[in-house]
Amino acid sequence: MIGFTKDRTTIAVVGAQWGDEGKGKIADILARDAHIVARGTGGSNAGHTIIHEGTAHVLHQLPCGILYPNTLSVIGRGAAVNPLALTREINAATDAGMSCHGLRISNHARLVTPIEILIDRITEAEGSAIGTTGRGIGPTYTAHVERRGLFVNDTLNKEELKKKLQHSVEAVMPFLRAFHPGTTRRILGADDMEKGAFYKDPDSIFNIDAIIDVYREFARRFRERIVNTDRLIQSNVGKQKILLEGSQGILLSIEHGTYPFVTSSDSTLPGLAEGVGIQSRDVDHTYVVAKAPYMTRVGDGPFPTELGGKTSAQWCKNNTKEREIEEYPEPDINSDEMFERGVAIRRLGNEYGSTTKRLRRIGWLDIPLLHHALTCGGGFQSGRASIILTKLDMGDTMDDVRLCIAYHYAGKKGYAIGSSRLLPGKRMCVAPMDQYALANSTPLYRECRGWKCSLRGITSANDLPRALLEYIAAIQEYAGDDVKIDAISVGPRGHETIAL
Ligand code: GDP
Ligand code: IMO
Ligand code: MG
Repeated sequence: MIGFTKDRTTIAVVGAQWGDEGKGKIADILARDAHIVARGTGGSNAGHTIIHEGTAHVLHQLPCGILYPNTLSVIGRGAAVNPLALTREINAATDAGMSCHGLRISNHARLVTPIEILIDRITEAEGSAIGTTGRGIGPTYTAHVERRGLFVNDTLNKEELKKKLQHSVEAVMPFLRAFHPGTTRRILGADDMEKGAFYKDPDSIFNIDAIIDVYREFARRFRERIVNTDRLIQSNVGKQKILLEGSQGILLSIEHGTYPFVTSSDSTLPGLAEGVGIQSRDVDHTYVVAKAPYMTRVGDGPFPTELGGKTSAQWCKNNTKEREIEEYPEPDINSDEMFERGVAIRRLGNEYGSTTKRLRRIGWLDIPLLHHALTCGGGFQSGRASIILTKLDMGDTMDDVRLCIAYHYAGKKGYAIGSSRLLPGKRMCVAPMDQYALANSTPLYRECRGWKCSLRGITSANDLPRALLEYIAAIQEYAGDDVKIDAISVGPRGHETIAL
């Protein structure tokens, strides 16, 4: 079963797809026994829904250890910390009865400021759209790589904070001046940006003193919790039960994802481990979480198995949940129209972004991409990782489910990937990690029969329907034998999890 053992004291949970795989639920099962729960990547772009004692909690920057009063919750060095959003999240958690006593924030975590949020939102609004969450994540990591980024530690030192903010503003001003002043003003006037408090005038744009006041208030309140978390984690490896809670998913990794439609941190195991100050070899076991029979994606980028293809991508980009409910009051999950099936699945699975409320695009489980997720960056070692399939109960009413087992290349003749030249019709069992090639990959499906019964309430693998076991066996067969499917999730609550 999922859990810590004598030999597994450091465990990681990572997503295998484009996020929202149900990492929060799986992390929460483990957090109950953990001494420390740590995040090491991403920031307020994440949204992990956890049902705890009957109540749903959506956590963004806070690790799920916050739900347990005696657990240390660590926001590690690799994370991007937005003090304003974090303060709001902590206030909400405290109001909901949680204690933030065990929270520790890395002094070396990257600091998100209104400058990066404005750059993120203006870039999305004015052209080169990735479909980001607009939380300033990309520009924050960019600032770090450009060697002008701020750290959480800077909130503790007023003069340094001022100097670095001024330097950052100077660096981005030529870029921002290219946009209409009204746009900058509108974005900085948003509710989550203190309703315009950080805006000065069209010339200087930022009110740096106002940013300093708010960030210094954060520092005053949380000073005792800002520490060297690398050392904290390193000194407890092998001694305490440590859970690394991944954000996003491997396909969104800046290193190994479907670039450029990715986030800006490395959401693979090495990225997560590095983000809390250790290495993958320190992690005894990794649970790789994947949704099935469908997967989802929020934002732009290739999605070969998307139900309804480009129509769906466009629909999800331009629409709201309310409009979808109005136009498709009763979508049929077994419709002949794949687009309609996608709408029905989205509705059934409540696949609307927990951070941005956007429609999540729906596609069949894609083995070539799962294969990539399991093998990229050195891959997972046999026996040190296992797969957990989530949301299988969403397939309960489907007559059939499709499993994408390979692609046919459908792009131009001779497109080069390294030394090979792709020819139309070429069969590919591992997804090409190239934007053009992936966008021109047509899925080849294996049709599997639906199990047509409710999985909710089943607690033993012995009681699972034969059609479901056949489907799971097919996933294992095509994904390879190295990393075993260990458990399945058949409902949002912790106990709705079945060991195989
Ligand atoms: P995360 O970002 O990977 O933590 O995933 P999200 O929380 O964004 O989205 C997963 C959603 O599915 C949440 O609302 C979970 O409560 C829910 N969930 C997780 N596992 C299951 C499952 O097996 N069945 C059902 N029906 N819901 C699940
Ligand atoms: P969790 O942890 C799903 C996506 C965005 C966008 C891309 C870049 O809940 O799984 P960013 O704001 O990070 O620069 O956006 O990444 N994205 C997520 N999609 N779940 C997430 O987190 C995501 N975090 C970022 O939609 O396509
Ligand atoms: Mg999520």
